[in-house]
Amino acid sequence: MEVEIDDERDIERIRLIREVRQRLESLARAGVSTLPKSPERPPVPRSAVVEPPREAPPVISAPASPPVVEQPKPAAAPPPPPRPAPPPKQRPVEAPGSLFGAVEFKAPFIEPADRSAALAVIAQEVAACVRCPVLVQNRTQTVFADGSPTARLMFIGEAPGADEDRRGVPFVGKAGQLLTDMITKGMGLRREDVYIANILKCRPPENRDPTPEESSNCFGYLERQIEIVRPEYLCLLGRISATTLLNTALSMSRLRGRWHRVFGVPTIATYHPAYLLRNPAAKKDSWEDLQMLMRAMGLVVPKKKG
Ligand code: URA
Repeated sequence: MEVEIDDERDIERIRLIREVRQRLESLARAGVSTLPKSPERPPVPRSAVVEPPREAPPVISAPASPPVVEQPKPAAAPPPPPRPAPPPKQRPVEAPGSLFGAVEFKAPFIEPADRSAALAVIAQEVAACVRCPVLVQNRTQTVFADGSPTARLMFIGEAPGADEDRRGVPFVGKAGQLLTDMITKGMGLRREDVYIANILKCRPPENRDPTPEESSNCFGYLERQIEIVRPEYLCLLGRISATTLLNTALSMSRLRGRWHRVFGVPTIATYHPAYLLRNPAAKKDSWEDLQMLMRAMGLVVPKKKG
């Protein structure tokens, strides 16, 4: 039966129904079959196998923009007690354990079939962008993204390097090869099933750090990418990505190993693959971070050898 949509409330209701359905499907994929009454945490499903339970990740930090520096917390601490009222510009923080109402997208839901086209519109805007004169002068081309517009997981790096600038695709150089290995050999996913983007869409000269102005000029594009793809999880690669999206000055060693939220999306931060190439000893920590992510996503974490 055709349902007539006659006012904005109907549209909003349909959008909410879609969003709840999407969430429920995601939870079902993660093995959650019953939901408790809010604000209790969901029962933690016990796996007969070896994996720790999958659960909705606890909220630890505030989402992106505008800049608010969060307070340091011990890495393995249980969910924190209720926070004092947030500073005026901070987005509201969801109650720990709540499964719904967490996502804070401003833009309307876009049907999976329409996401490629919606992203292509932004990619065109990006290709014509001249907001950062130094970057415009330096770039061969803009580097928008790679992967699936309906990905459950989105990786966000810093900015294109020389290889990416040449090919117009993020993470295709040496660091990109390591990221691909982390996705495929580590997580057991296909690179084309995740979505990969950067804070900046242009290569900074000499691969220097993005300036705050460049990050802010480019932020709207990334925000729209996240809103269109609506990933269930974000993985922030490296200090620049993590500090920009989490509005914090904390070091990666303080940010990794725990959950954050960006626009309400459960998010982890981990070392940048380029850093891992220079500091292979940190690969162990990064693998732990990815395992935490995999458990939350309901992916099988390989048993430790030996
Ligand atoms: N490093 C990044 O942060 N992004 C890329 O696309 C490549 C290298």
